[in-house]
Amino acid sequence: MFKTLRSRVIATYLVVIIICLLLASVVFVLFLTRYEKDRARDDLRRQVGVVARDIGRVVGELGLRARSGTSGTESSQPRRIVQGVLNTESRVLGTKLFLVDSSGTVVAEANRGIRVTGRPLDLPLSLLEKDSQQVVDEFLTRFGREYLFVSAPTLVDKTTPGFLMAIKPLNEIGTGVGSLIWYMALAGLIALGVSTLLALYLSGTISRPIGAVTQAARKMAAGDYDQEVPVKGSDETGELARDFNMMADRVRTAYELQQNFVGNVSHELRTPLTSIEGFSQALLDGVSREEDERRRSLEIINQESKRLVRVLNDLLLLSQMDAGELRPEKKPVDVVDLMRKMDSLYHARADEGGVSLLLDTPASAVTLNTDPDRLELVLTNLLDNAMEYTAPGGTITLSCTVGAEVVDISVADTGEGIRPELLPRIFERFYRGEKSRATKRGGAGLGLSICKELVKTLGGRIRVESLPGEGTTFTVTLPL
Ligand SMILES: Nc1ncnc2c1ncn2[C@@H]1O[C@H](COP(=O)(O)OP(=O)(O)O)[C@@H](O)[C@H]1O
Ligand SMILES: [Mg+2]
Repeated sequence: MFKTLRSRVIATYLVVIIICLLLASVVFVLFLTRYEKDRARDDLRRQVGVVARDIGRVVGELGLRARSGTSGTESSQPRRIVQGVLNTESRVLGTKLFLVDSSGTVVAEANRGIRVTGRPLDLPLSLLEKDSQQVVDEFLTRFGREYLFVSAPTLVDKTTPGFLMAIKPLNEIGTGVGSLIWYMALAGLIALGVSTLLALYLSGTISRPIGAVTQAARKMAAGDYDQEVPVKGSDETGELARDFNMMADRVRTAYELQQNFVGNVSHELRTPLTSIEGFSQALLDGVSREEDERRRSLEIINQESKRLVRVLNDLLLLSQMDAGELRPEKKPVDVVDLMRKMDSLYHARADEGGVSLLLDTPASAVTLNTDPDRLELVLTNLLDNAMEYTAPGGTITLSCTVGAEVVDISVADTGEGIRPELLPRIFERFYRGEKSRATKRGGAGLGLSICKELVKTLGGRIRVESLPGEGTTFTVTLPL
């Protein structure tokens, strides 16, 4: 029944509301009943006190008991007056009123309510206290019901003290509460209705975004990666939607990268393989008769095989770095020494290409704690590129500057440069400038992406500055 989050939220909400309403009603009713009872008692005490004083005045003047010798006790003048007062006041107060003497014997009673004359009322002493000038009250059970007894001192004859007594059944006190309960029930129903609507709205605001994310996730699982859910607000569901979108974006990018990667790899492998296949087939078929031609074919096969090995090695290196399998083996390395070595390695090639290779390093050693093989690989890639993209007559400068906390190693050339809009792309895997693609120069477009990964593992960064037609400078910054 409560399978969905939404129904659970609504149910919880309603249960809490109902419990609160019940608790509030119970407390309210208890409090109100008590309050009503106290108020009714106080009212009755006050009124009985007043009536008792009035009766006391009349009886004190006229007496009540028939004097000996006078006949018709019941209908004597003062008795009729007192009877009248008792009847009227009893109606007004809505209680039974009667006069008792100090022994508790009923002397007169109003004609309203239960008859008490001659009945054993068995009044407690607290109500019949002789010296009491105060109004006293007591809750007592008589004739099988609970009553409120209020007793006020008065006179039952010219000088004989007695009490005016009022009895009111307890169930007639606080009857106002009964009708209030209906009002409360009505208010409760309205509160319940309003809170149901609120709960529906509230649960909707929670379950709708979750539902959207669930649906989008399901579609992604089915292979449709183009998903975006609407982000509303900055609460948890908003955060969930935002994070989901971020994740979807990354999955999409990763998927596209993977697709491109497979395409690129196939392409990079197919081109040399096609060459190798073609030339080797020609050799087998005996198409080329000349020794020179055969040698040329073999050279191409050899070159393309080397290219294949290079691409595969690069791919292997990248995948190992991606998997975090290769840890750098750091040790103290004199960078100046390493740069001299690179200079001597590339000198012959520079001469061959008609390019001047300059070395600009500090005179003393600059020692870094780094992985020399990786640093060498980075410089090799950068120098290869510089050689590749610098025309004869140009200059390549390999330089090193030492800062407070870092060392900058740069490879600057006066080559063709890179257009600004292409700069952000050159570190992407398989990215090659149009010219290098068209002229089959350079490698598979993996060199700079390898440099970037390698420098990252050494705790440094690589940046590029370039002006088309003027030259390019790559700078590797490593921590000292
Ligand atoms: N020194 C440079 N001068 C001009 N263009 C360069 C230079 N170095 C790199 N590039 C550009 O960046 C691209 C990517 O370089 P890289 O990753 O080394 O791939 P590749 O050398 O295999 O083409 C190159 O194709 C080229 O267009
Ligand atoms: Mg390269």
